[in-house]
Amino acid sequence: MQHDLVIRGGTLATASEVFAADIGIRGGRIVTLGEGLTGEDVIDAAGKLVLPGGIETHCHIAQESGMGIMTADDYETGSISAAFGGNSCFVPFAAQKNGQTVEDTLATYDERAALKSVIDYSYHLILTDPTEDVLAELPEAFARGVTSFKVFMTYATRVNDAQFLDILSVARQYGGLTMVHAENHDMLNWMATRLTENGYTGPRYHALARPGLAEEEAINRAISLARLVNAPLMIVHVSTPGGAQCVRRARAEGAFVFGETCPQYLFLTRDDMDLPGMEGAKYICSPPVRDKATQQALWSHIAADTFSVVSSDHAPYRFDDSGKFAAGRDIDFRRIANGMPGIEMRLPMMFSEGVVKNRISLNQFVALSSTNAARLYGMLPSKGTLAIGADADIAIWDPKETRVAGAMHDAMDYNPFEGMEVTGWPVTVLSRGRPVVDKGELLASPGDGAFVARGQVDLTGMTGSHLAETDPATNFGAEVLP
Ligand code: URP
Ligand code: ZN
Ligand code: ZN
Repeated sequence: MQHDLVIRGGTLATASEVFAADIGIRGGRIVTLGEGLTGEDVIDAAGKLVLPGGIETHCHIAQESGMGIMTADDYETGSISAAFGGNSCFVPFAAQKNGQTVEDTLATYDERAALKSVIDYSYHLILTDPTEDVLAELPEAFARGVTSFKVFMTYATRVNDAQFLDILSVARQYGGLTMVHAENHDMLNWMATRLTENGYTGPRYHALARPGLAEEEAINRAISLARLVNAPLMIVHVSTPGGAQCVRRARAEGAFVFGETCPQYLFLTRDDMDLPGMEGAKYICSPPVRDKATQQALWSHIAADTFSVVSSDHAPYRFDDSGKFAAGRDIDFRRIANGMPGIEMRLPMMFSEGVVKNRISLNQFVALSSTNAARLYGMLPSKGTLAIGADADIAIWDPKETRVAGAMHDAMDYNPFEGMEVTGWPVTVLSRGRPVVDKGELLASPGDGAFVARGQVDLTGMTGSHLAETDPATNFGAEVLP
């Protein structure tokens, strides 16, 4: 068979296998896995790893924060940075504003994304005002392929437990996945008020104001709510061993619960915030970075498959008046924009510190960076794996190349991981067979990436959480409705 493009002589890895093969691509899809393939174009991948392109499923792009601050990256710079970091697809958020309809929210982000992205993209819909009318609109969001929702348990944009249950129920009914930022709002507020009243206002106190217990409590509550209605739930950016344990226990008990952690919780600590002046603001994110013992515990959970994904939570606010200091320079930590960049560093750091240092296998790396995301967010088998018929979304890695992290391709003015020595970098990234990045050069144009209409969350092999109290056989025959 003649191919448009052949990737020849590489070592392929999926979430379950590592094997030598050529990949034959035609019409943007993988059509052959074999030996001695021929094609119009050939990429020599000898000595390289050929992996499914990364799928970044937690990033804030062209989105206002809860404080109303616009991210530095739009769909153009965000997607370019993602591609240089080995990603062939990303799923930023479309954030509802109070009183806004779902239709209008998605239209806003359609406009922001139009003709900008160099890689394929989709959105998770953030729900901050889930009125009855808004809930009634969700089937339409599903119909157009937006099948995951996010809620906050903190910030001004938080939902209460009843609203959270409403969203979980509708999502479950349609096969969607609900994501949650889990921190106990009142605990955080109480701590921050006391700290600032006593003059502890500098960036470093952000971490103290958000204790691990506040995360653990909220994760436990979020899981309880999801179990009540037997709905799938993704706990995003888990930053504590206690939170990870909650996820692990729920999964062991069959619940449809998934966890995500992020590089900042594996590579940074609150000591990084202990800098003169406002410099520590660069490391303000929520939940906050913790300590060395936490890093080790989270790595153990990654190795033991507690987490399904490692995402960047790329939330790019520049270290200037457009970002971190949009509310002014002379402000306490509560008014500094929350978030840090990392979309380009996520995969190289996970490869370097995870695979090269033998903390995780190459298969786990693929699962955590691509396959599990595709499965949970409704993109498998088109994306997230190397298989006949799949989109040719492929990242070719040089496992030996070592670089010291410096400036990235995003619109940011700092890199929180700057100076770290990283071994293993993506050399070539293809999206549906198109070269996006090759040997440090951008080959794609804004608008080459397409919107991905996603399907249902894949819960294959999971039993769900069946509570006796909600079973008609043991509750006087009353059925608990979805
Ligand atoms: O600090 C962070 N992570 N900012 C982005 C918004 C969020 O909480 O996910
Ligand atoms: Zn969050
Ligand atoms: Zn986030």
